Amino acid sequence: MDNTLSNKKILLALTGSIAVYKAATLTRLLVKQGAEVRVLMTQSATDFITPLTLSTLSKHDVYHGIADDDSWNNHVELGIWADVMIVAPASANTLAKMSVGLVDNIVMACYLSAKCPVFFAPAMDLDMYKHASTQHNLELLQRRGDRMIKAEYGELASGLVGEGRMAEPENIVKELEHYFSISTVDTSYQGIKVLITAGPTHEHLDPVRFIGNNSSGKMGMAIAEEFCAMGAEVDLILGPSSVSTDMEGIRIHRVTSAQQMYESASQLHAQAYICVFAAAVADYRPAHYENEKIKKAKEEHMTISLEKNIDIAAELGSSKGPNQLHIGFALETNNEEQNARRKLTVKNFDLIVMNSLKDKGAGFGGDTNKITIYSHHNKPIEFELKSKQAVAEDIVRVISDLIEEKKK
Ligand code: CTP
Repeated sequence: MDNTLSNKKILLALTGSIAVYKAATLTRLLVKQGAEVRVLMTQSATDFITPLTLSTLSKHDVYHGIADDDSWNNHVELGIWADVMIVAPASANTLAKMSVGLVDNIVMACYLSAKCPVFFAPAMDLDMYKHASTQHNLELLQRRGDRMIKAEYGELASGLVGEGRMAEPENIVKELEHYFSISTVDTSYQGIKVLITAGPTHEHLDPVRFIGNNSSGKMGMAIAEEFCAMGAEVDLILGPSSVSTDMEGIRIHRVTSAQQMYESASQLHAQAYICVFAAAVADYRPAHYENEKIKKAKEEHMTISLEKNIDIAAELGSSKGPNQLHIGFALETNNEEQNARRKLTVKNFDLIVMNSLKDKGAGFGGDTNKITIYSHHNKPIEFELKSKQAVAEDIVRVISDLIEEKKK
């Protein structure tokens, strides 16, 4: 059987934590799956396990100094060589160094030279794991695009029980297999037209005031960039937002109101194979627009009458062609699954990406998001908190999987 780790070049970096004993099993499993493994160790990792053990298991020299035996270890070459780098265990100390870019050992020199995705598997005692500075580093690294393999719950070296155990080697291998399996699916979007709505809409009351929301447009832009990087021709209909891109393959259509967004989307819809409705469209607009700035009145109260905006996704969903794919978004605060599934059906989406405001780091404005994707026939797919760029990669991969599934 074709193995997803066959010939994959894996740079495994070990740092000082008792969990480093698991690195022996991890190396053995990776090699068994056909991967080429090069091991790096910090000096404190060598206090827990010998380089000899790892060189025997990986069948290659192990690097544990910037120079070993009078020759310089070329971290730049290793950083370019690898398909992925994985820091496991990642101690609190190393996570802090990674977040500030402090280079005082071979692991850090390779980390800063790596051109490939970096995974890290934290390992530490539960209070160190919970500490605000560790949590800050974990969030920062993920926002930058590094991928965390979450620490597991269980008994720790201190005897305490809690979160902080390094993920089991089998689970780390599964994560890597998953990563390589989806990144090898045929996901070329060369020449495919993709339509994306993004950002907020502003519904003006008068020339200077509007009803709007806090959507930044970052999530929609990240999806547009991901599709564009894979060769798609992207039309991005963007509400009032300061996000921008230097990718030439993305045509940006700037709009202000829901009505303008609808008009632009309905013109482009028929040619698009994939439509992603990421915009936070205002559901209502002021029933009357005043041409002049509204003056303050004597009365203590003022009532603004609103009328419903068109539902762009639902409207275009009703004319969706048999080969078109529609992907919706749902930002929820309660009954998340129920609400997302209702929108999936009512708006004729193929997939819906749900984020809950209950999750820290999810939703509007920030650089991270935490999503669950619902579809009609498959199980929900729940993702960790990630940078919006990494979330966009996940969304595009799930869309690619759906396309592959439909081909069968
Ligand atoms: N949407 C749209 N046009 C609208 C409202 C929503 O295209 N006028 C799209 C959004 O871009 C998103 C999906 O519909 O993909 C769900 O948006 P949401 O605001 O969560 O849905 P609503 O139907 O407005 O539900 P709610 O009552 O929760 O606001």
